[in-house]
Amino acid sequence: MSGHGQPVPMVARKGAALVGTAVVPGDKSISHRSLILGALSIGETHVTGLLEGQDVLDTAKAMRAFGAGVERLGEGEWRIEGVGVGGFAEPEGVIDCGNSGTGVRLIMGSMATSPIVATFTGDASLNGRPMARVTDPLALFGTRALGRRGGRLPMTIQGAEDPVPVRYATPVPSAQVKSAVLLAGLNAPGETVVIEREATRDHSERMLAGFGASLTTEVTPEGRVITLKGQPELRGQSVAVPCDPSSAAFPVCAALIVPGSDVLVPNIGLNPTRAGLYQTLRDMGADLTYENPREEGGEPVADLRARYSPAMKGIEVPPERAASMIDEYPVLSVVAAFAEGRTEMPGVRELRVKESDRIDAMATGLRACGVTVDEGEDWWAVEGLGAGGVPGGATVESRLDHRIAMSFLCMGLGSAQPVRVDDGGPIATSFPVFEGLMAALGARIDRANA
Ligand code: S3P
Repeated sequence: MSGHGQPVPMVARKGAALVGTAVVPGDKSISHRSLILGALSIGETHVTGLLEGQDVLDTAKAMRAFGAGVERLGEGEWRIEGVGVGGFAEPEGVIDCGNSGTGVRLIMGSMATSPIVATFTGDASLNGRPMARVTDPLALFGTRALGRRGGRLPMTIQGAEDPVPVRYATPVPSAQVKSAVLLAGLNAPGETVVIEREATRDHSERMLAGFGASLTTEVTPEGRVITLKGQPELRGQSVAVPCDPSSAAFPVCAALIVPGSDVLVPNIGLNPTRAGLYQTLRDMGADLTYENPREEGGEPVADLRARYSPAMKGIEVPPERAASMIDEYPVLSVVAAFAEGRTEMPGVRELRVKESDRIDAMATGLRACGVTVDEGEDWWAVEGLGAGGVPGGATVESRLDHRIAMSFLCMGLGSAQPVRVDDGGPIATSFPVFEGLMAALGARIDRANA
């Protein structure tokens, strides 16, 4: 089930080459943050290129519930009338964040130091994911959390009446945890410090500074030390959301494994905290080029061109690269199946607590499609069968996980037999135009019961 409706069985089949230009939607991480920071600012924030996937729409609804004005002006164009730091109202109903870990964790942080109470829930996937990683550091501000055993949603958060600033070293590499602490730090007096051993995506830091917060990042032997001065006056901004490198991964990887393909994916943010997949694909020998490299809104951006790459080789992905490509391991494992030799993916324990246990979900589906996969708690490895060598021919479970669904549909475009996915509904959380975009490139992806 998609969590938002009936299951949508889908099937992908081998067909002609994928050719053309694929404009992917706005970055999900930046879209969530533009709504939340807009709501915490004084005055108006104008956003263009906002991802209108269900995850982000759920965050927009939540910001309204906390008192911000949030209005859709046109396709991807939104206006937010903020209430200022500390200005959130107590929501009347339960905040339903659907499938979105980013949504719920960042919103919990953003209300945790205001004297209000809010109850959060989500779909079956989100209600199974760990929340203590956020509520533990929020408790240091004086925030209280009451939830199910194991620190899971539904959960009620009572914001701190008199928050104190916090110094917190994140025990897991998570931009969501880092961001929740920084957002909570906004309404605490003094300086809130977050230390992360491994660099995770830094959109919160960049955007907080852009909205007028005083924030510094120092690289020390302990890790990255991020210091935020509390109680700033954030000012509404214009935000142009770049295209999402995590969504771009699907047409790019599909092009690499479908004979004759040549696909251009324009305007992709290549922020080094997000671009690990593309480096890895190049290390494997993918024909992937960065055209027209430039800077936009302080972020490195390029047009990606991916061409069919029959000579890719398996590699060991450096574990220190994991955080910069954490959402891309599922689709990387598909590409690895079409490469020669073994691809090892160490240092990826976090994959077990995403929208699904992504190692288990991918390993199960890959094996059903004739691919050998080994796995441990924090690593996995795929035995490549070479170009054209993947049998396919199975129905796999997407487990309420958009990236699992899209990864297997990409696989079906290059495998000998079709690959079916039991429910493509979750794709709408992050990439609502996936089917149309892939069809325009020539992909044979259909609703199985249509
Ligand atoms: C995100 C952080 C990552 C990523 C998620 C988006 C964000 O999660 O997997 O899709 O926008 O901060 P973790 O913080 O759990 O690594």
